[in-house]
Amino acid sequence: MATERSALFIFFGGTGDLAYRKLYPSMFNLYRKGTLQEKFAVIGTARDKLTDEKFREKVRKSIGSDSKEAEKFISHFYYEAHDVTDQAHYSVLKARAEELDKKYKLSGNQIFYLSMAPNFFGTVAGYLRTEGIVNDNGFSRLVIEKPFGRDFESAKELNESLAKSFKEEEIFRIDHYLGKEMIQNIEALRFGNTIIESLWNNRYIDNIQVTLSESLGVEERASYYDKSGALRDMVQNHIMQIVSLLAMEQPVAFTDSDIRAEKVKALRSLRVYNVAEAATNFVRGQYGAGNKVKPYREEDNVPADSTTETFVAGKLMFDNYRWSGTPFYIRTGKVLADKFTRVDVVFKKPLVDIFAFPGSTNTAPLDTNILTLYIEPKAGFALKINAKNNEQGFQTEPVTMKYLVDPEDSKKTPEPYERLIHDALKGDGTNFSSWQEVSYAWKFVDQIRHVWDLQAPNFPNYTPGSMGPAAADELIERDHRSWVYKLNK
Ligand code: BG6
Repeated sequence: MATERSALFIFFGGTGDLAYRKLYPSMFNLYRKGTLQEKFAVIGTARDKLTDEKFREKVRKSIGSDSKEAEKFISHFYYEAHDVTDQAHYSVLKARAEELDKKYKLSGNQIFYLSMAPNFFGTVAGYLRTEGIVNDNGFSRLVIEKPFGRDFESAKELNESLAKSFKEEEIFRIDHYLGKEMIQNIEALRFGNTIIESLWNNRYIDNIQVTLSESLGVEERASYYDKSGALRDMVQNHIMQIVSLLAMEQPVAFTDSDIRAEKVKALRSLRVYNVAEAATNFVRGQYGAGNKVKPYREEDNVPADSTTETFVAGKLMFDNYRWSGTPFYIRTGKVLADKFTRVDVVFKKPLVDIFAFPGSTNTAPLDTNILTLYIEPKAGFALKINAKNNEQGFQTEPVTMKYLVDPEDSKKTPEPYERLIHDALKGDGTNFSSWQEVSYAWKFVDQIRHVWDLQAPNFPNYTPGSMGPAAADELIERDHRSWVYKLNK
């Protein structure tokens, strides 16, 4: 049985899609596993007027169970209609919070979960403090969903407004990619294996490729997405987090502060491009028509002349001793060929191919070793190495050593949100983004955005079901390299 954790959860945006789809089901899993037992309570808040009963009905539906256990779990849920800008509402919330704290013996522990329009984050955090909802008895933690700003300046402003009410160690900025099993495995693979970490540098690695490919379009999120675009939506957060885990030095210990220190150090040595470099090292795309998908510009809530990018590819360079000269290529986009996330680590070829001497019968040149980390949907890794084939004569050929998590075991792996809520309850910030990480990521991304804003793109430029515009291939081919994952045309 897991250790029981006690806390009052207040969900702002408590009737939102994320809450019903991910947050409450994740909490129910924590309840079934015993992390949550008797000592917890939930207040859902939103503008809608709901009774506790109606709210519980919706939670019941969202967790997909009406078992006895589910009923006990749901009995800990309460609802307050709440306008986050109305100061008076906070005294009602305070009274409810205090009542539930006593009823469930919560020792003053509180988690405020902000899953709502980001322009209200600062307002809510401020009122939570000034109206005395935050108490000094137990812990008070603020969990916030993305996006954290839309550029460095707005993120800084937001951070300053949160910092008036909460300390940095009390702020848990969600990046759900950090809750994924195989992303967490990057640290285990790197720092748990001599054969990997001792080769993990520019002497042995030629380049690293990070691909976050999505097969779906923007669905019903176009009004948000069109103002954001793939660079802000996927690169600034998820990709920069993955890249910093791949690039960082070994932390002193596997603790949140040590890991964050190394991630920040890595991001600080990421080269921030000047205008010319940004223009050559980044490519943007927007999908047109094809494969029975309507063009992005014809999606609901997307202007017919939208210049929002639904695809990004880029080359990142770290100016430090470990990575100087080894590029990290990244790409992400909507309505691509498939839905998957993977990292390909391409090693350098042996300096000499002794099998290719004049008159040799070995016709195939040695291949590059590639370590592929499969993040999702399959989880595991594969290592491509050269070996002698199993035939008469002497012929080398690449073979692949593979480890894939059993799909049955994968089903048992906790969902990212379950892990992240659990971490927030424990006060472990390892898998959340620190302010410094967020700020360096914005500074890098802002420069690309700035260059893109100078010139209108020639959109649409890729077909649904492809792997993005031709320029994304040219970007890497220019360096005499190619994407490891390609479509079999
Ligand atoms: C979100 C983005 O952060 O991540 C979405 O806002 C994207 O646009 C999603 O679809 C992808 O997450 P996952 O876990 O499905 O790869």
